[in-house]
Amino acid sequence: MDDVTDEERPYGAGAVDPSLKRVRTRHFQRAKEQGIKITGLTSYDYLSAAIFDDAGIDFLLVGDSAGNTVFGYDTTIPVTVDELIPLTAAVVRGVNRALVIADMPFGSYENGPDEALATAIRFMKETGAHAVKLEGGVRSAKQIKRIVRAGIPVMAHIGFTPQSEHGLGGHIIQGRGEGAQQLLADAHAVEEAGAFAVVLEMVPSAVAAQATKELSIPTISVGAGPDCDGQLLVWSDWAGFTRGRIPKFVKQYASIGQTLLDAAIAYREDVESGVYPGPEHEYGE
Ligand code: KIV
Repeated sequence: MDDVTDEERPYGAGAVDPSLKRVRTRHFQRAKEQGIKITGLTSYDYLSAAIFDDAGIDFLLVGDSAGNTVFGYDTTIPVTVDELIPLTAAVVRGVNRALVIADMPFGSYENGPDEALATAIRFMKETGAHAVKLEGGVRSAKQIKRIVRAGIPVMAHIGFTPQSEHGLGGHIIQGRGEGAQQLLADAHAVEEAGAFAVVLEMVPSAVAAQATKELSIPTISVGAGPDCDGQLLVWSDWAGFTRGRIPKFVKQYASIGQTLLDAAIAYREDVESGVYPGPEHEYGE
């Protein structure tokens, strides 16, 4: 893989390897070995996926956060496989280069390896996704193993796992104090089960750095500090689209919500005052 500086990087090419036509899971491994950071965003539709792909974002997660961002549920718990499948298929249609990962929602894999494999197969066959993600470390290792054995790449997700929000007692940072040992045990369990990468969500930076050093697979931070091998953010938080509370770890790169609000008000005012449509928007006979 050639060294390419930010100045040299062409529009539409990502850091993992600018020359890649398609990012694959093996490129994640190579990026870790070469110390190149991996970049991911969530996406839930064709248009955002195409833009993020053009920007060279290495992977797009069709997260069960769609439960909040698309469907307006309070948590990710109610969202279903049937709801996520069309969103995932739309994201796949929007990309040329990015790896697309389908998130397996709550209730679609906890019953055991057979259920987990059946859900993963549905996502792969019905959406064209390139990998799946599921939550849990030691407790999900058997599921990960079965899916990987069937030839489907799995991204694991440990630390704060939103599907277990009620069991964990709320949005609480994981891996603090004695919790660090459990976090590291979870990290090793998913690596041994065959995951190609692991998301660490809301974990102290020092513990995430330790996991990153101990594991041979890449770690992807969602609020787990700068020493992980890659970063992932929910796009509506990152772009200033989300209404309400934004987690401390999110850096907002745009104010899309305000831009849309201003545009909608301007449009309404133009319609009410007769400014829109103008002559340039009309068809002649
Ligand atoms: O659903 C999601 O968006 C996620 C990420 C926050 C990791 O699981």
